[in-house]
Amino acid sequence: MTTESSTALRKNTGVIAPHGGELVNRLVTGDDAAQLESEAQGLPRLRLTEKQTADLDMIASGALSPLTGFMGQADYDRVIDEMHLESGLPWAIPVTLSADERPSGDRLALEGYEGDLLAVIDVAEVYEADREREAQKVFRTTEDAHPGVAQIYAEGTTLVGGPIAVFRRPQPAFPKLQIDPAETRAAFAERGWSRIVGFQTRNPVHRAHEYIQKCALETVDGLLLHPLVGKTKGDDVPAEVRVRCYEVLLEKYYPADRTMLAAFPAAMRYGGPREAVWHAICRKNYGCSHFIVGRDHAGVGSYYGTYDAHRIFDEFEPHELDIEPMFFDHTFFCRTCGNMGSAKTCPHPSDDHVHLSGTKVREMLGRGEVPPVEFSRPEVAQVLIEAYRKA
Ligand code: ADX
Repeated sequence: MTTESSTALRKNTGVIAPHGGELVNRLVTGDDAAQLESEAQGLPRLRLTEKQTADLDMIASGALSPLTGFMGQADYDRVIDEMHLESGLPWAIPVTLSADERPSGDRLALEGYEGDLLAVIDVAEVYEADREREAQKVFRTTEDAHPGVAQIYAEGTTLVGGPIAVFRRPQPAFPKLQIDPAETRAAFAERGWSRIVGFQTRNPVHRAHEYIQKCALETVDGLLLHPLVGKTKGDDVPAEVRVRCYEVLLEKYYPADRTMLAAFPAAMRYGGPREAVWHAICRKNYGCSHFIVGRDHAGVGSYYGTYDAHRIFDEFEPHELDIEPMFFDHTFFCRTCGNMGSAKTCPHPSDDHVHLSGTKVREMLGRGEVPPVEFSRPEVAQVLIEAYRKA
């Protein structure tokens, strides 16, 4: 017997508009690209960091719409202090380009972090970053033990703002999963989806992830699984392993006609609440109308409270962001309920819950032991065990 879901019968009402209304495209192609590249050969060069290389690619593809380049001072200041761009649109994390010294000239050639010549920036301004203020406001700490703070401190204080034109894209980590905002939008429209929930992740997929993704999918048309594949801190599980986990999981447990897997090219900031807002805005550009924010989203160590990334959304006017956050409490498997739940839905004491710390799971995987099915699908555990064996 086949079953039909009710959303399949809904009339398509269209995919959400990008942030600011228009999808930015800063890619130059064909003869224009060849001409721009030859111009770039004669310009002074600036080498981007890995994070900035990912940002450049995301500006080019429209993933950071309405940004057309790296931020100037007015945007930088207003984003830090008020979580808005100078234009008044919400924005949560500065997207900036740093230079070791004040560059001369009003055009610069931009090299990716691996040295490839990629783009040209028209220098609109060169200004000084206030890194401590930025750290305090964006990351809620000035400690350089925080990886996001360490990153901005390492970039220095000289910033270059201006629009970019990209004639060569950085090498994608996962070519098959490089699906740009224009392409995800077209795919959603083709499938007749208008209500799409986006899921950000930087960790191997476990049952709590699967539970919140599927709870969300129950209420919308489609699910965009969007693992971040840009730079992460050294002790996070590498993106190849995380992507492989999703591939084996999708094969067996997800409906192919309701799910799409694509790579999110950004570097991780570990900015907790601010990054949750930024992640949501980026996913809106990919065409998502909804975005999952669970426990300690984009957090690191104990810098943020478990639900700080929920509360920050209250700082915006209703509909200012447009994309709808879907909040989930900390979820777990309860042995008495016999299913997943959270403190909102499960009345049983924590002794009944399957709790495994990251360290405990790593130890088990290191010994080749499969964690309980209440924690991880065995197929996913197998991928992780193999990865640990090779490491
Ligand atoms: S993150 O840095 O990308 O946020 P992670 O991949 O662990 O890390 O989380 C992806 C998403 O799932 C985030 O929205 C996070 O809040 C949520 N999440 C992770 N684990 C749980 C859990 N046990 N219960 C509820 N939400 C969770």
